[in-house]
Amino acid sequence: MLKFAQLLLLFILFLFFLFGLSEFSAFAKSSSFEAGSINTHFELHANFSRETAELLGKNTMLTILKEEFTFPVDSRPFNNCHASTIVEVDKDHFMVAFFGGKEEGAPDVKIWLQRYKDGCWSSPVVVDEEDSVPMWNPVLFKASDQLLLFYRVGTGVQNWTGCVKRSFDGGYTWTSRAQLPPGVLGPIKNKPILLADGQMICGSSVESWNSWGAWVEVTSDLGKTWKKYGPIYIPDESLSVIQPVPYQTAKGSLRVLLRSAIGKVCMSESLDGGQTWSFAQPTKLPNPNSGIDGVKLKNGHLVLAYNVDSRGLLKVAVSCDDGDSWIDALTLEDTPELEFSYPAVIQASDGSVHITYTYKRTQIKHVVLQLN
Ligand SMILES: *[C@@H]1O[C@H](CO)[C@@H](O)[C@H](O)[C@H]1NC(C)=O
Ligand SMILES: *[C@@H]1O[C@H](CO)[C@@H](O)[C@H](O)[C@H]1NC(C)=O
Repeated sequence: MLKFAQLLLLFILFLFFLFGLSEFSAFAKSSSFEAGSINTHFELHANFSRETAELLGKNTMLTILKEEFTFPVDSRPFNNCHASTIVEVDKDHFMVAFFGGKEEGAPDVKIWLQRYKDGCWSSPVVVDEEDSVPMWNPVLFKASDQLLLFYRVGTGVQNWTGCVKRSFDGGYTWTSRAQLPPGVLGPIKNKPILLADGQMICGSSVESWNSWGAWVEVTSDLGKTWKKYGPIYIPDESLSVIQPVPYQTAKGSLRVLLRSAIGKVCMSESLDGGQTWSFAQPTKLPNPNSGIDGVKLKNGHLVLAYNVDSRGLLKVAVSCDDGDSWIDALTLEDTPELEFSYPAVIQASDGSVHITYTYKRTQIKHVVLQLN
């Protein structure tokens, strides 16, 4: 196996030498390149084993530093958990939230929190619950002096209400639940971004009967007042795009990557600071109608965690051109009959990339990646 991997690497280095290409494009098979398309997926080592992918990763940009569960499977105080979110509180100090209960949508589903400090995970504790009403999709975010915890409360996805709690002491105590204004759902799965002018850009979406679409909700006062812009959707597709991942491009435009029901990760762009958005267009990245998340790194690269053909294959792709083209960087999980889904991705202050995701709906896995 190792021999094969070494040979493969030599072969790729040979190609690199042959074409005199840059390090990234050397690894890209340019056959799937379509000049002029806004999104080009370089089919890279999509077909390689995990070992080979990691070996190649060493020579591109990402390696796995650490993999762990946030709690042991047999200690969990719920049957089922999903939709994790992670935030850096301070250096080497993180918090994770997720929903947990009998099963997704069951009346006993609560929002749970865990803290990572001094190298250990604390046991999950309940941060909010409502008698006989399930809770959904928490999103943690740090902004100026506070931690924000957004989540949804309601009997169904079609009629849930956006809620928020705040902490001013690093997540040890939280304000009581506040509801967002009617029609504002808050960041629906993925963390917002904070622009230099103080605007917080939240990717939101609506899953009404036979009608899915995304919105961008903007607040300039950390959630007191809101404006919303959209809808972002695919014309003539009733179930189109949800759960945006917002980021700012090098040129200053705003983009969102979107989960879709059409088999591909989709993208939309705003050239006016988030007020008007293009129709969503498919990228070359696959998406089996499953949550994605990504982050724009300090070095300008974009990292995205996504499922491929099912929720059993979870990969990480990197884009060096704000999402126009993608390089597959890592395979995190590959067991077809199992579920590894709903990644949350952040970059910590030390530059490492932290990803949490649902592991078989019974645990949350935490993976730390290092940039080379
Ligand atoms: C590798 O790619 C080829 C051609 O795209 C495909 O037929 C094959 O099933 C792939 N193998 C694996 C292990 O994914
Ligand atoms: C909300 O939607 C769910 C199904 O998605 C339904 O069972 C429930 O009755 C609805 N609740 C209200 C208050 O309409």
